[in-house]
Amino acid sequence: MPATQSPNRESAARPRQRLYINVDHVATIRQARRTDEPDAVAAAAVCEAAGADGITAHLREDRRHIQDADIERLVREVRTVFNLEMAATDEMVGIAERLRPFQVTLVPERREEVTTEGGLDVAAGSAQLSEVIPRLVAAGVRVSIFIDPDPATVDHVHRLGAHAVELHTGRYAHAASAGARAAAAETEVLRTAARVARHLGLAVHAGHGLTVRNVGPVAAIAEIEELNIGHSIVSRSVFVGLAAAVQEMRVAMDTARSSHYTDT
Ligand code: PXP
Repeated sequence: MPATQSPNRESAARPRQRLYINVDHVATIRQARRTDEPDAVAAAAVCEAAGADGITAHLREDRRHIQDADIERLVREVRTVFNLEMAATDEMVGIAERLRPFQVTLVPERREEVTTEGGLDVAAGSAQLSEVIPRLVAAGVRVSIFIDPDPATVDHVHRLGAHAVELHTGRYAHAASAGARAAAAETEVLRTAARVARHLGLAVHAGHGLTVRNVGPVAAIAEIEELNIGHSIVSRSVFVGLAAAVQEMRVAMDTARSSHYTDT
């Protein structure tokens, strides 16, 4: 019997996929008025109570949403685990060394971009990363690198000594809007990169552009153990509330993982 049809085997063989909620866009709403609400840290607590396994926030160089004070409080107040997204700059590494979040995810950053547009160019940034990663590891921080789902880049991350890769699902999300064939092709790209990473001993995370409608095929990839999701959940919370939005995503992930799971 294929693994896809074996719920018993599924529960025995595989832990459930972790859901980390990115609270950046709660801060985006606050910054629209430069006031004190809604509070991203209070939102994080609601997400945790609703079943989030971790909280993510991106401290951008331009501080367009999350502020330094948010990060200080998230590190102190998150009860699950806190994942700090940041660029591999001296300023950010200094902040991470001081605050020591559970995990840092290194991302590329360009001032003019609306959101993180592509994965980190690991080859171009190799010299810098080979200094930054050991600094973070020495501070006791788990290090994940946000990359495009490309096996050569996965291999490079492995050689740099990071703990995890986060596979950029932006192309997949685009493809999912274009139709089933395009989505299937991009799912395969993610699956291949995830398998290479796991084979090398890296933990595999994924995220960007995931929604309740498109998360299924990504949630069903066995090697992917963590998803980072922000915009669609904060958007949905406008209509149903934050806790319900988190729970809807949790159900979508669990349903996909138990009914379409594929294994090697
Ligand atoms: N993962 C990383 C590395 C990101 O930069 C982002 C966006 O901030 C996300 C996940 C979440 O993407 P989205 O907000 O589209 O769910």
